[in-house]
Amino acid sequence: MPRTLFVTTALPYANGPFHIGHIMEYIQADIWVRFQRAQGHAVHFVCADDAHGAPIMLNAEKLGIPPEQLVSQVNALHNADWPRFHISFNHFHSTHSPENTELAQSIYKSLKAAKMIASREIEQFFDPIKGMFLPDRYIKGECPKCGTADQYGDSCENCGAVYAPTDLKNPFSALSGAKPVLKKSEHYFFKLSDKRCIQFLQKWTGETKLQSEVVNKLAEWLGDNGKNLNDWDISRDPPYFGIEIPDVPGKYFYVWLDAPIGYLASLKAYFDSGKAKANGEGRTFDEFLADDAVEQYHFIGKDIVYFHTLFWPAMLHFAGRKVPNNVFVHGFIQVSGEKMSKSRGVGFGPARYLEVGLNPEWLRYYIAAKLNDRVEDIDFNAEDFIARVNSDLIGKYVNIASRSAGFIAKRFGGKLGKPQLPKDIAAEFSGASAEVAVLYEGREFGKAIRRIMALADLANQYVDGNKPWELAKQEGKDAELLTVCSTAVAMFRDLTVYLAPVLPKLAAEAGALFNFDAFEWKTSLKPLREGHDIQPYKHLMGRVDPKQVDALMGVEDEPKKPDAKAKAEPAADAPSTEFALTPTEAPRPAVIAPIAETISIDDFARLDLRVARIVDAEFVAEADKLLKLTLDLGVEQRNVFAGIRSAYNPKDLVGRLTVMVANLAPRKMRFGESQGMVLAAGDGSGVYLLAPDSGAQPGMRVK
Ligand code: MSP
Ligand code: ZN
Repeated sequence: MPRTLFVTTALPYANGPFHIGHIMEYIQADIWVRFQRAQGHAVHFVCADDAHGAPIMLNAEKLGIPPEQLVSQVNALHNADWPRFHISFNHFHSTHSPENTELAQSIYKSLKAAKMIASREIEQFFDPIKGMFLPDRYIKGECPKCGTADQYGDSCENCGAVYAPTDLKNPFSALSGAKPVLKKSEHYFFKLSDKRCIQFLQKWTGETKLQSEVVNKLAEWLGDNGKNLNDWDISRDPPYFGIEIPDVPGKYFYVWLDAPIGYLASLKAYFDSGKAKANGEGRTFDEFLADDAVEQYHFIGKDIVYFHTLFWPAMLHFAGRKVPNNVFVHGFIQVSGEKMSKSRGVGFGPARYLEVGLNPEWLRYYIAAKLNDRVEDIDFNAEDFIARVNSDLIGKYVNIASRSAGFIAKRFGGKLGKPQLPKDIAAEFSGASAEVAVLYEGREFGKAIRRIMALADLANQYVDGNKPWELAKQEGKDAELLTVCSTAVAMFRDLTVYLAPVLPKLAAEAGALFNFDAFEWKTSLKPLREGHDIQPYKHLMGRVDPKQVDALMGVEDEPKKPDAKAKAEPAADAPSTEFALTPTEAPRPAVIAPIAETISIDDFARLDLRVARIVDAEFVAEADKLLKLTLDLGVEQRNVFAGIRSAYNPKDLVGRLTVMVANLAPRKMRFGESQGMVLAAGDGSGVYLLAPDSGAQPGMRVK
């Protein structure tokens, strides 16, 4: 029986380009979705940008553009990028959309009618200079437990204590530096701790085939009859970039209320645009969601389980809507065993992966080979990547076609003979179809790949044992040659069907070459007809060049030698030239030094100044004045250590454009190499990063 599935991935924040973790999640979900489609099921697969909330609002403010402009720019960027990894979303929307406003407001009204909304006055820190209530992450101060300075409003990096922002000693606003004041305001709550809600969640948890790790978490949260659960604060005061709460003028929904509703908003936009109809779904959005038989699945990372297994099903249930059939949780992708975006140049972005010329299907294959159905982190390791792609994908699978198909075109007019699999191999192949399907269905992609590669081993043994290249040289062996090659092609066809969810482009190309449908699971194991036409063999896929992976991981052949004539370079943490950032240690007197000596235009032209986009920014564990910035120059990415920690929160920098000195000799530092310098103004009283006017693109020269 064909099933109808509604599948989503988590909505990425609309404040920067995709991260490799996003792409990993999309690849996982996409493999599952493509497998379901190959089984003949109808799948509607959507995503959207998560556009609201204080960080995006403040980021836009820093960029000097309205938040609407920021989120629409990022949306365009995202929409250009996911197809590059062959992700088959049917629609990619935004939570900043009429559909989401309408759905969020309507769901809220239903929750209110169900008496699941409460309101009460609460007291929170308010920044009197910025004129806004401060989210926890924008409040800093001394840890109430160990006294460490400069800690965030929720927990201490030094001793790990968790506390309320109001517990901090000497709190200050990370936005303005002001001392926050306590201010009261009316807030709206979703009654998560309501008995009805706990009961529903216990029932939903019991009925849903959640992963065991998730079940354990839920048992903790819902234990003691939910005694430890608090009501959920769903309102925010202006200024806020979000959706207004109906009947409560001047209050907005907290971003995490409208974000998951974005799943439905994206689905609605997809239905309303006619794309669902084109995909064979004749019903309206409302009719579709009212059908109990429609299955709803969400792929998410381990950090957002709380939102997806408590609030989201409860909100949907009490609003009288379909609840998720399951939530599939994955771990995080790490690079060479280290967490992404943490100290020392670890990690790479999806854009960089493509820029160095790596094939997106290699990444899909590698990630598939590493994934299982548990909440486990996976590691991207350069040698492992090269080995799996070159020895398995190319050496075992692609090789079968390249060693056999050519003869059929050259010697037999492109007409296949009758495949004749030896008995034992035939038995293995016919058992595999159902087994591989079960593994894909259960998201055991690594096991599926191992099973498929074991079949490829058998196919290679067959080819090695029968040596078509030798038969081709012998007189009177034509019939044997045709049978051997046809048998190899038949095995290759089945393997292609099994790999198609992982390698959609390759499967389409192989399908075109051999005239078979790689996307219809049922076609595998149907013997290929004698006389079946195939096209002249074209090479399907090449090997990874380890140099590409070196480029990806930032390993250079020859470290750039500093220019001998160059003056003593400024240490990134104690800059001293006019292009350097103001040191933050001893504040200098705020006087402007005399204008420096005159230089020629040629002197100036030696500087290669470029527009750069900050794609990542993070603290440097061992240096309290520095931030590590990852800059995208359009053609490449650079890491730069900049002494701007006192003035900028890393999260706020991501997505911004700035200007960098691109031809400054790289400088080795304790925690990594600084590959240039960003420009900022400053006189000791503050640091102000330069930003080009809107329209400038990463890589443009500044002259
Ligand atoms: N906007 C929220 C989700 C709202 S869903 C209604 C959010 N956005 S996010 O951009 O931070 O993360 C999006 C997804 O990427 C999440 O599922 C998150 O777990 C996943 N990942 C982020 N970093 C990751 C890795 N390093 N590895 C794998 N996935 C990770 O959370
Ligand atoms: Zn502490």
